Amino acid sequence: MTAASGESARRASPPTPARLTVKNIRARKGRDKIVALTAYSAPIAALIDPAVDMILVGDSLGMVVHGLPTTVGVTLEMMILHGRAVMRGSARALVAVDLPFGSYEASPQQAHAAAVRVMRETGCQAVKVEAGVALAATVAFLVARGIPVVGHVGLRPQAANVEGGFRVKRSALEREMALADARAVDEAGAFALVVEGVAADLAEAITGAVAAPTIGIGASPACDGQVLVTDDMIGLFEWTPKFVRRYAAMRDLVRDAVAAYAADVRGGAFPGPAEMYDLAAKGAAAAGRRR
Ligand code: KIV
Repeated sequence: MTAASGESARRASPPTPARLTVKNIRARKGRDKIVALTAYSAPIAALIDPAVDMILVGDSLGMVVHGLPTTVGVTLEMMILHGRAVMRGSARALVAVDLPFGSYEASPQQAHAAAVRVMRETGCQAVKVEAGVALAATVAFLVARGIPVVGHVGLRPQAANVEGGFRVKRSALEREMALADARAVDEAGAFALVVEGVAADLAEAITGAVAAPTIGIGASPACDGQVLVTDDMIGLFEWTPKFVRRYAAMRDLVRDAVAAYAADVRGGAFPGPAEMYDLAAKGAAAAGRRR
């Protein structure tokens, strides 16, 4: 390709909108709210991308997509596979991918190797780690080596086995610990903090205590942004946690659609003339074009 043909090829394709950056998200502190949702697939990423600032490829995918009882069974390979799909489906939002249980806690070096794989193999802009005081040094290690980190404090789903389940942080001790965790991860250089499952006034206190924007889930409107699991928010599950607002009833829509399809197949009404190819040349050519 000559310089001139390269130039016309560049002119022929419309400019790709740039993704929001770590700097853009950080600058939202105390300003416009950060809108975040989870995605695990290219089509859902494409649907939510125009409306959100940040897409989180959360390890909740273990439970939501793979039917695991907790996030503990999620592997780095699963996160990379779903992270790649989400990157392909999105163009505008900042994408952060969770480092799963067991991939980062042993040492800063282990975390670095995992984060480098995730960023290289997915093309995402950041990783999220469930880190507090105990892993603040790991966060600092990653940030110093060019890896943008979203911290995750309060209820940490990966700690469910030591904490006896998913417990909202309310007691005096839990409050003290959550605040200390948030401060430590903030000082370590995280550019944003997910604050999950804490009493509303604690989320507000954390938001006031840290320089990084906070993104609440089961927290408080005082946070700098909000995140939800998309599948919860669109009503794909029978049970809705208290902190979720359902904006659609996808479960009912899907069930009704499947019931209608099954009735049509059983009654011979599907496929109909509009959904079949005929043998006429025109039909065959059209079928070829659609392939
Ligand atoms: O794994 C996840 O999806 C999360 C968000 C819900 C914050 O951590």
